[in-house]
Amino acid sequence: MSAPLNLAIFVSGVGRNLMALNESCCSGELAGLARIVLVVSSASAGPAREGASTAGIDTFLYSRDIGCPRLLEELSRCEVVLIALAGYLKLIEPELVSRYRDRILNIHPALLPKHGGKGMYGLHVHRAVLDAGEKETGATVHVVDEAYDTGRILAQERVAVKADDTPEALEARVIEIEKTLYPRTIAQYIEETIHSTNNSH
Ligand code: GRF
Repeated sequence: MSAPLNLAIFVSGVGRNLMALNESCCSGELAGLARIVLVVSSASAGPAREGASTAGIDTFLYSRDIGCPRLLEELSRCEVVLIALAGYLKLIEPELVSRYRDRILNIHPALLPKHGGKGMYGLHVHRAVLDAGEKETGATVHVVDEAYDTGRILAQERVAVKADDTPEALEARVIEIEKTLYPRTIAQYIEETIHSTNNSH
């Protein structure tokens, strides 16, 4: 049995996924598979950063002026193997994607390839779903590439749209499924992709 791998979580927002992932690493599907060694936050990540500090996880405040080389140094210092974006709003620099090719995952609050791309985050996504008259929406976990929300899809879970839904009501139901979908998918990815790749070397 392999030791838990070092996971970094990137956040910009509220931190509900971060907390779910942390719980899962402590006593859920990710226990024994991963441990969160670093939370990288953008400047807007007030609640998520506070949540990380309260949970005793090291945080690294990352802004463009710090520069990607310094971030890569920090990830390497923490021996990070896998990165999970959890509400991180910035585009991941090509240098980081290439250093962590197939080792960066994201969760998006819609059924990609619908309602993704630049500017599609938070309530904008749920508003777009309602405006398009969708009967269902959901969440998607995917591998991160150089563009927003275009990488290989790993898992999706569906949520029915109700006739009287508001963007806020929809967001609340989608986030509930995210909290189980993300840890479960990361656990599967570690077992089926990372462990099997490592074992084949
Ligand atoms: C989630 O809906 C996630 O799908 C998206 O951003 C939101 C982040 O929420 N990428 P939180 O910060 O995890 O509460």
